[in-house]
Amino acid sequence: MSDALAIRLRDEIRAGGPITFARFMEVALTDPEHGYYTRGASRPARAGDFLTAPEMDPVFGLTLARQVDECWRLLGEPAIFTLREHGAGSGALAVSIVEGLRADRSGLVVARSDGPAPLRYEPVEIDGRRREALVPRLAETAPEVVVGEPDPGQRMTGFVLANELVDALPVHRVAGRPGGIDEVLVGWDDDPAAPLGGRFTDVVAEPTTAALAARLTDEGVVLAEGQPAEVRLADADWTAGVARDLERGYVLVVDYGAPAADLYDPARRPAGTLLAYAGHRALGDVYADPGDQDLTAHVDATALERAATASGLDVLGRTTQAAFLLGCGLEEVFGRLRADPALTPERYLVLRSAVRRLLDPRLLGGFFVLALSRGVPPEARALRGFESVAGGPRTGG
Ligand SMILES: C[S@@+](CC[C@H](N)C(=O)[O-])C[C@H]1O[C@@H](n2cnc3c(N)ncnc32)[C@H](O)[C@@H]1O
Repeated sequence: MSDALAIRLRDEIRAGGPITFARFMEVALTDPEHGYYTRGASRPARAGDFLTAPEMDPVFGLTLARQVDECWRLLGEPAIFTLREHGAGSGALAVSIVEGLRADRSGLVVARSDGPAPLRYEPVEIDGRRREALVPRLAETAPEVVVGEPDPGQRMTGFVLANELVDALPVHRVAGRPGGIDEVLVGWDDDPAAPLGGRFTDVVAEPTTAALAARLTDEGVVLAEGQPAEVRLADADWTAGVARDLERGYVLVVDYGAPAADLYDPARRPAGTLLAYAGHRALGDVYADPGDQDLTAHVDATALERAATASGLDVLGRTTQAAFLLGCGLEEVFGRLRADPALTPERYLVLRSAVRRLLDPRLLGGFFVLALSRGVPPEARALRGFESVAGGPRTGG
């Protein structure tokens, strides 16, 4: 247990009064020394606390590669095309995307007569140790790809990718009350008998910012009395940063979440969606062991789209992960892998189970995929991953 982090948060509250849950979550996840994501433990992977699609099986990245290739072609095959991955983790997704591009003979990974292959890879990863480990991993498995740091002074042409990143951005906690909302802050109750001399506790208070109620009002959401919910104001800063750095290209966000009308429906989600995860299990106490457990809340897809639009990005479509992967040709990729004479029975079983999970609407298949763009002409906005969406790209809540 990272007592140091709990003690730091306790002392901050003792000194200045209750803090927002967003502050608690930000420190618990990203404190440079003891944060869940920053202290260098191995995650996400089989030994970690959860398993993301790219960590589960390369078939996810092999399939997504087709969307990346199509976007490059839609932009007229620029000589430099940057794949910038936010929350790059171990690099598993990048490695499988490059493998997929190679298998599909995409020009993105073929050296040009006048220079290297067009694909550049830029991981944006808050965990410095992971960032460092990514470079040799890519050098070994994808030597044709130039790996670099995002240049803050340079706007990119290419593809921004974020798989299971936005759900880790901090959220405020709120609760409905007649005519408005309360905010649920994090306080500290002294108790000499308890470890660390007390415990974190909910403190119901006036909202610390009017932006919380404004967000819900803009979405037409009225919380029932006492209904707990989360509001992620940080998504606006994230989309603003992405838009600022993108000159021409696409953004793909994959995550668990739902449109606001579903996410804040008191019948469907009476307890909100905030969860703590450790050892592949969802745990009830979000205050336990800050820095040792993941904290996550579903993504409000409506808010994310609105934030993207306000940041100057165009919304191209939203669909489910299952529909997106089928549109990208998952069945064909699966068929190719299955036909490989080197495929062992064990590998086949793992692959088949991964494909099932990716398509199952109750599992990874139910995640949403949101496509955004900037500086892309209308004729380059129809993406294969969104073809199945009735009537063309689907937007809005
Ligand atoms: C759930 S993991 C997903 C990793 C990878 N995208 C995948 O699908 O396997 C979230 C990743 O985002 C990183 N992360 C969390 N907050 C971040 C932030 N604010 N900026 C950049 N990376 C962040 C974490 O360190 C972690 O590697």
